[in-house]
Amino acid sequence: MNVSKAIHERRSVKTFSQKRHPTPHLIKKIIEAATWAPTHHMNQAWRFDVFRGKGLLKLAELDAQIHLDELPEETSEVTKTAIIERRCAKMMQYPFVIIVSIPRLRDRKSTYLEEIAAGAAAVQNMLLAAHEEGLATFWSTGKLAHNKKTKTFLDLAKDEEIIGVIRVGYPESEKKYEKWRKKREPVAKKLNWHEA
Ligand SMILES: Cc1cc2nc3c(=O)[nH]c(=O)nc-3n(C[C@H](O)[C@H](O)[C@H](O)COP(=O)(O)O)c2cc1C
Repeated sequence: MNVSKAIHERRSVKTFSQKRHPTPHLIKKIIEAATWAPTHHMNQAWRFDVFRGKGLLKLAELDAQIHLDELPEETSEVTKTAIIERRCAKMMQYPFVIIVSIPRLRDRKSTYLEEIAAGAAAVQNMLLAAHEEGLATFWSTGKLAHNKKTKTFLDLAKDEEIIGVIRVGYPESEKKYEKWRKKREPVAKKLNWHEA
């Protein structure tokens, strides 16, 4: 697949096949593609934590806990249990979840913003490589990425950031895949030429 085709075809997909799962080898392959992103001083300050099976269930329980923490104290046990079950079921639909975080390389000259920019380029590489392999992906952040409990879970420092929680699998159906297609604003609206 050529790069332009992959760029234009790739879309966020939120429903994944439960019958067919990618192999760990394929997941490693798309992460390897991520690591070819440009990076200032070749710092390569990115980290990929891959979750599936029992590992994913632990992440699901963390996600559920983060949602429970927001509830008023008087919330009933029945409601709490229902939330845990719903959050866990939702997470367990994803064949693989990859959390991308940016460690701080404290002895380097480049800024953390540069490391985050490089990390975002790495994620896009990964999404395009996945698309080429027929995989569907969904890059999210949300409560899980922003909560300090997730940083503790991953052993990240307080000032280190999670830039993506990436769901990966085969798409459930091409039809649903179409549903998520979103148009872009015309490039002319975003573009300034400086020529004189
Ligand atoms: C840093 C980042 C965070 C995102 N977080 C979320 C999210 O929390 N929830 C969500 O539904 N989509 C999230 N998205 C996905 C975007 O909503 C999606 O890419 C956008 O709607 C364009 O759709 P497309 O990927 O199909 O082109 C995120 C995307 C990026 C780059």
